[in-house]
Amino acid sequence: MSSRKPIRKAVFPVAGLGTRFLPATKAIPKELLPVVDRPLIQYAVDEAREAGIEQMIFVTGRGKTALVEHFDIAYELESTMGERGKDLSVLEPTRFTPGDLITVRQQVPLGLGHAIWCARAIVGDEPFAILLPDELMVGEPGCLAQMVEAYEQVGGNLISVLEVPREEVSSYGVIDPGASQGALTEVRGLVEKPPVDKAPSNKIISGRYILQPEVMRTLENQETGAGGEIQLTDAMAAMIGDQPFHAVTFAGRRFDCGSKTGFVEATLALALERDDMGADVRRIAERLLAQ
Ligand code: UTP
Repeated sequence: MSSRKPIRKAVFPVAGLGTRFLPATKAIPKELLPVVDRPLIQYAVDEAREAGIEQMIFVTGRGKTALVEHFDIAYELESTMGERGKDLSVLEPTRFTPGDLITVRQQVPLGLGHAIWCARAIVGDEPFAILLPDELMVGEPGCLAQMVEAYEQVGGNLISVLEVPREEVSSYGVIDPGASQGALTEVRGLVEKPPVDKAPSNKIISGRYILQPEVMRTLENQETGAGGEIQLTDAMAAMIGDQPFHAVTFAGRRFDCGSKTGFVEATLALALERDDMGADVRRIAERLLAQ
């Protein structure tokens, strides 16, 4: 049994504008776009639950109320379905014990770092997880569960990473890697969106974090970074050296559902794997590709 404080809370920053998906995301939050039949936020919440998270904190903004409704009881829907003898178990993952889903508001989308900082009072003095729902992580166990296991060994701060072709690094946060052991790599530095020739590696940060609460203080005093936003990467970089900092290479697949092609890829990959529709989707895909 580990003596480390358990990771009980997770922050889901969902206040971004989702401009890459306009007009789809004008009135619907990006995180509610469905991959097959589950919205992105549901995949992230399921992943957090599997990792033992008890309290989910959504950092929302204007126009994001539907995200909270998704996890509420839909009384009319459920009673009508019940009267018609329909199976309600499909709604099971959308249920929450009252008090276990908390929202805070980011009034102005000033960046990911700022969104995390908005959750400081609820996070309090505990290590916590962050999940970016537009990065869909598929694995068994899930990405956050793999990270929690690593956390029990090394503690401190952890980020999930994956390798990408070198020419793609400038779109991401990149680690400067130290020694590696199995899936764990020591992190010596972090840089947000480096030019290809200045990137310290091709290992990119991939949307899952376990951080110590001190990051909130760093965020509090932070200047804006790349893109004029308050960057989480910069705040994490400032903690390297003071606390253990490791990257966990995720054993699984990651789909960048913040981009249109990544979203289509995720939809196709997950649909092809489904028992109820995989064979049909394969036939459709083969027919389309043959045209
Ligand atoms: P993105 O960089 O994907 O931005 O944010 P975005 O606004 O969602 O989408 P585009 O680029 O305009 O299409 C990464 C994550 O950080 C959250 C987003 O909701 C997403 O989960 N975020 C970003 C915030 O919560 N607040 C912000 O100010 C910025």
